[in-house]
This record gives sequence, structure tokens and C-alpha cells, in this order.
Amino acid sequence: MKKAIEQAEKNKTAIGHFNISNLEQLKAIAAAALKLNLPVAIGVSEGERDYIGIHQVRDLVDSINKENGHDGGFWLYLNADHTHSLDRVGNAAKAGFDEILFDGGKLPLEENIKQTKLAIKIARPFKLWGKRILVEGELGYIGSASEVRKDIPEGAAINPEDLTKPEDAARFVKETGVDLLAPAVGNIHGMFADAPDPALDIDRIRAIKRVVKIPLVLHGASGNTDGDLLAAIDAGISMIHISTELRVAWRKGLEDDLKEKPDEVAPYKLTPDAIAAMEELVERKLRLFNRL
Ligand code: G3H
Ligand code: ZN
Repeated sequence: MKKAIEQAEKNKTAIGHFNISNLEQLKAIAAAALKLNLPVAIGVSEGERDYIGIHQVRDLVDSINKENGHDGGFWLYLNADHTHSLDRVGNAAKAGFDEILFDGGKLPLEENIKQTKLAIKIARPFKLWGKRILVEGELGYIGSASEVRKDIPEGAAINPEDLTKPEDAARFVKETGVDLLAPAVGNIHGMFADAPDPALDIDRIRAIKRVVKIPLVLHGASGNTDGDLLAAIDAGISMIHISTELRVAWRKGLEDDLKEKPDEVAPYKLTPDAIAAMEELVERKLRLFNRL
């Protein structure tokens, strides 16, 4: 995973990261990534991994990689997204996740540094393919739910004075030793129904990248404009997280399936439109992030 992110950093592209909670989402993401021959990250938050099962999601991703994965092209990586407790860091490390995001974004800086260091201490002894598991840290709170919203999430950093400061980012990275950093740069989890999300602070991304020298991750990218996302990649973002837009595509597709087949009861016959809608979305995002 480290190699794939470093490659993205070098090429000024970004790895697409998509959250899943069911098989249809995984199938759609894999199909789009396979079509474009690209590595992609699959994220499961605490709720999503409780629903699928941490070992089950690892096995599903492994089986797809076994069938289709190859070095330098299509490969699915697995991220234990937004992990809040140290116990869960240990569980994800034991289950063989490629990456763990320890999310101390809501904590004061000192406490976030302290907890993130503990998360790294727990994850470091575990190896995957002989390499260490990547640990991402989060600095700044951007809300928690991937949902269609009317307002900015309560407590989320959105005013310039609340966004991640380059000097705090530099200190956080130096003291914790995280492999990846997710800053608050005007991004929010979730998206507005009828308007784009607030603009990203591109100069801030550039300033943070200049001082931290590790790959930056943009969370909450649903609802941001294509122009903003490309500018964010240019400024130093190497991985982009999308969840809400995928959930919206799933729901719309499923509603179409249900409308078209009012008497159908076989679950697998009620998913083609949902899978197609999600695959189309993922393909569009991957083309954007990879400038294809
Ligand atoms: O970790 C998940 C993402 O940051 C998703 O954010 O729901 O705004 O796309 P989003
Ligand atoms: Zn996120």
C-alpha cells in the first residue's frame, strides 16, 4: 500500500478510497478499479466493520485480490477507517488490515498525540506481506457521519482559525511517527443535497504538505467539486475518501430496481441497478483522481 501511495504522490494523482458495508459496494468498486487497472483502498469504519465482520471483510478483499490482483495495477487495500479505540486498533491489526486510521481528530492536540502514539505502538509489531501496517493520524474534527446533510456538522472545523495549522501538523507527525496524515482543510464528512460542499483551503493543503513530508489524505470528499479535488491533489493530497456519494448511488439504484421489479423477491435480482450506479460513480471518481 505504501508503494502505491508513494507512486500516486510522485505522479500527482490520488488513490481512491471508498467505504463499504455490503457486498454490492465491494463488487462495484472492484469492477471499476479492475476496468481501469488501478489500486484502490476499501474503507470500513467501526460500524461498517461490525456489520460485515473484520475477518469476513479481510477474506472478501483477499479473494478478489487472489483472482485479479497484480503488482503495479489492480489491487484492493483494506483500511480500518476512523478507529477511535485502542482495542479496535489491536483487533484490526490482528485481522491483517493494510492500514488503520486512528482518529483522534476530536481530541485536543496533546491528547491526540498521546493516543496516536499508543495506537502506533500497538500496530507496529504486526506485519502484512512482511511489511508494517500503515497508520494514519487525523488532526482536526470534520464531523463523523457520511450522510446527506442540511448543515455543517456540529463542532466541525470550518472557519480558517479552526482548520489544521501547518505548525501543529508538523509537530503531530514528528512526535507520533504516523505514515499518513488527514488534516482539516475545509472538508466535512457528508454532503449537502442541493449545493456543493464548502470550498477546500488549497493553500493550507500546500503549506501542510511542505512541512510534513508524508502523504496527505483528504476525508469527506463527497460533495466537493471536481475542480477543488484536482487542486487538492496538485497541492499534495495522495488519497481521497468517498462514502456519502456511494451511499446515495446505492440507494437511488436500489429504488430503481425495486420500482422495475415490484414482485421480485430474490435479493440478487434486486441489485443490478444499484451495482451499476455505484460502479459508474467509482469509475468517474477514479478517472478524475488519476487524470484519465
Ligand atoms: O472516511 C470516510 C470519508 O471521509 C467519507 O466522507 O462521506 O464525505 O464522502 P464522505
Ligand atoms: Zn473520513
